[in-house]
Amino acid sequence: MNKKYRVAVVGATGMVGQTFIKVLEDRKFPVSEITFFASKRSAGSLVSFNGMNFVVEELTENSFDNGFDIALFSAGGETSLKFAPIAASHGVVVIDNSSAWRMKDHIKLVVPEVNSHVLTKNDLIIANPNCSTIQSVVPLDVIHKLFTVNRVIYSTYQAVSGSGYKGVMDLKNGYENKEPEFYKKQIFDNCFPHIDDFLDNGYTKEEKKMMDETRKILGLSHLKVSATCVRIPVTVGHSVSINVECEKPIDLNQLIEAFKQHQDIVYYEGRDYPTPQDVVGNDLVHVGRLRKDLSAENGIHLWAVADNVRKGAATNAIQIAEYLIKENLI
Ligand SMILES: NC(=O)c1ccc[n+]([C@@H]2O[C@H](COP(=O)([O-])OP(=O)(O)OC[C@H]3O[C@@H](n4cnc5c(N)ncnc54)[C@H](OP(=O)(O)O)[C@@H]3O)[C@@H](O)[C@H]2O)c1
Repeated sequence: MNKKYRVAVVGATGMVGQTFIKVLEDRKFPVSEITFFASKRSAGSLVSFNGMNFVVEELTENSFDNGFDIALFSAGGETSLKFAPIAASHGVVVIDNSSAWRMKDHIKLVVPEVNSHVLTKNDLIIANPNCSTIQSVVPLDVIHKLFTVNRVIYSTYQAVSGSGYKGVMDLKNGYENKEPEFYKKQIFDNCFPHIDDFLDNGYTKEEKKMMDETRKILGLSHLKVSATCVRIPVTVGHSVSINVECEKPIDLNQLIEAFKQHQDIVYYEGRDYPTPQDVVGNDLVHVGRLRKDLSAENGIHLWAVADNVRKGAATNAIQIAEYLIKENLI
C-alpha cells in the first residue's frame, strides 16, 4: 500500500491556506491525518477537507508535539520565523510560503521543475518562492538551458489576491466607491507600481525578491536582473512581461518547440496569448507573445501568466512535497 502522510496546514483560513486545501484535494495528496492551524482569531472556526469539517486550532509552541510529516506554512513571515524551527525540531518538513527563509544561505528555495535536484533528506525547512518569480523562472530556465541568459528585465501585472483577502476586499470595496483599507491608493479602476515596502535604492521589496530569488533558483549568482512590480485590478492571475538577453543567438523555433514539450508550460502560438482569466484554477505556467527584441542582439520578449495562489503559492509548495515523496526524501 502506498504510504500516507500526516499533514499540518498553518494559516489554513487565509487565501493561500484555503488554496492548499483545494490543491491537496485536487491532486489527491496521500494524507493519513490532517490538522488545520491559524491564529487565536480563527481558532474554533471550521474548514472543509475532502467533504469533512475540521475545527481550526490555534497555532502554539506545542502544536507539533504530536508529530506530523509535513507542515505547509502560509501565515506570514513572523509566524514562520517563530514556528518553522519548532516544527523542524520535531522532524517535520516545513514548506514555507512567506519570504522569511527564502534568501537564507542554508535554506533551499525551490521551483520543482527548475531546481528540485538541490533537495536532500536534511532539508527540514524549504522555502517556496515569490509568486511572480515562480512563473517567471519556469520559462527562463528553458531559455537559459538553450541560449544562456545574460540579463533579465521583468515588468509585472499582479493580481490583488497576491495580498491575501485584504487585497481582494479593497478591490471589491472599490466597486462600491468605498475607500481602500489595505492599499495606500485605490486599486479599483487603477494600478500602481508599488508592491511591498520601498527600499532606499528606489526599488520595492517585491522587486528585490524577484531579482534575488531568480538568481538563487537558477543558480546564477551574477545574473543581471531588474524588475518593476505593478498591482492591477484583477482578482486572480499574475502576468509578467519578461525581456531577456542571451549569450547565444536565439533560434525562436527551437525555443517554441522546447516550450511546447515542457510539461508545466502551456504555449500560446502566434497572435494568441494568455490572460489572467485563462489561468484561474490551473497549475501550469502559460506563455505567449514570444518574439525577438528588435532593440537587442540575442534579445527576446515573452509574456508569462499563472494563477498566483496556485502555481505561485499552494501548488508549487505541494509539488515540492510530492517530489520529496517520489524521491524518498521524507
Ligand atoms: N496570496 C498569494 O498569492 C501569496 C503568494 C505567495 C506567498 N504568499 C504568502 O503566504 C502567506 C499568507 O498569505 P495569504 O495571502 O494567504 O494571507 P491571508 O489571506 O492574510 O492569510 C493569512 C493566514 O495566516 C494566519 N495567521 C496570521 N497570523 C498568524 C499567527 N500568529 N499564527 C497562526 N496563523 C496566523 C491567518 O489566520 P487568522 O484567520 O487567524 O488570521 C490566516 O490563516 C504570506 O506570507 C504571503 O506573503 C501569498
